[in-house]
Amino acid sequence: MAEHTSSLLLIHGFPLDSSLWHDQRMALADVAHVLAPDLRGFGADEREVPEVLRMEDFAEDLKELLDRNGIDRVVLCGLSMGGYIAFTFLERWPERVAGLILCNTRATADDAAGRDARVATARDAREKGMAVMARAMAAKVLGARTVGERPDIVDRAVAMIARQRPGATAAAALGMAQRPDRMEVLHRITVPTLIITGDEDALMPLPTSQAMADRIPNARLVIIPGAGHLSNVEAPEAFNTAVRNFLAELAGTR
Ligand code: MLT
Repeated sequence: MAEHTSSLLLIHGFPLDSSLWHDQRMALADVAHVLAPDLRGFGADEREVPEVLRMEDFAEDLKELLDRNGIDRVVLCGLSMGGYIAFTFLERWPERVAGLILCNTRATADDAAGRDARVATARDAREKGMAVMARAMAAKVLGARTVGERPDIVDRAVAMIARQRPGATAAAALGMAQRPDRMEVLHRITVPTLIITGDEDALMPLPTSQAMADRIPNARLVIIPGAGHLSNVEAPEAFNTAVRNFLAELAGTR
């Protein structure tokens, strides 16, 4: 393995898999040792999943992954549900986190309507199946510009969602509903933090990211124009530049 200053752990969103990071893995390999695992039950990970997969379950899997690979500290980079998992990991193992990249995510918990929607998502995944859910979900996660101009990205998002397992999708949906609100503890985050979002993210609108940036002491906010909820897929160059700059600053080389 090449000697890098940072290990970068990329944590995918819901209901997606590690291929979300296709445009980051290689492009960032010269500045970091990049890890992009499939979360439990997603992508090529065929482990049995319980009825509910909590963010703590995913965070524990990731900690074991680091232990197995002899990696002491990482920069955590989580998109959406990946961000919820990154928050959970940071709370449990702060000494293992050198930096935090929060992409298209939020620190608030689900409200009652949101939790009801999780139950409906879990039911739809099991009863209707992923192929039916994929087209509707892809339209929500991508920005208007991407939907209008990039059929290749739309197809990629639809395919990624459609190939996930209903059981893991249902379990993670129910697990997300249990995550706590973290708005009042953001001020305790001491690691350097980069927040990335797209100005067309309809699921996590801009004020959501701005509110996190206002509360986390050492945070910078990068807003990518024309990108939606999957900012790293929709605008990989801008996304990668933001991550590169952040890693260079962490390493003291910028
Ligand atoms: C995701 O992209 O991971 C989801 O939109 C997160 C969520 O549903 O809260």
